[in-house]
Amino acid sequence: MKETAIHISLLTKQEDELSTQEMRLLNEARLATYRSYAPYSHFSVGAAVELADGTIVSGSNQENAAYPSGLCAERTAVFYANSRYPDVPIRRICIVARGTDGKPLHRPIAPCGACRQVLLEAELRAGHPIEVMLHGTEGTYFIQSIRDLLPLSFDESFL
Ligand code: THU
Repeated sequence: MKETAIHISLLTKQEDELSTQEMRLLNEARLATYRSYAPYSHFSVGAAVELADGTIVSGSNQENAAYPSGLCAERTAVFYANSRYPDVPIRRICIVARGTDGKPLHRPIAPCGACRQVLLEAELRAGHPIEVMLHGTEGTYFIQSIRDLLPLSFDESFL
């Protein structure tokens, strides 16, 4: 028998420790929550993606009466970025949410499994790690790569 431990590390920063560019990205993600279409869950998520040339693209969750037809904020932002700027790799993503009371979440939001899978593809496509910022009012988690969020992941190397 052999045990393998998989280790991930994350950094937590308070708002006064964020750089100007990190703050910019966070503010774009926050703004995006106000463009969310969430009449069913009343849970508004915003994602802002920073590209290699500094361009910021944002997206929000878009729900549908046929529930599974809706899309999370992260995939909306990543697919939009890749459709609009297919040749510019993604460098960083910041995700925030407001709960059913309309207030920002205290605990940093965690992206769903399907979004992690899509972000992994974006990371492989970029050819370098995509940094992840998960924001809550109690702090922002910084994770160095999508692989850290999705260990033992399925990718093209299996095909
Ligand atoms: N949602 C996101 O947009 N991103 C996440 O990371 C988690 C969940 C959306 C999907 C749905 O519109 C609502 O939040 C409640 O699940």
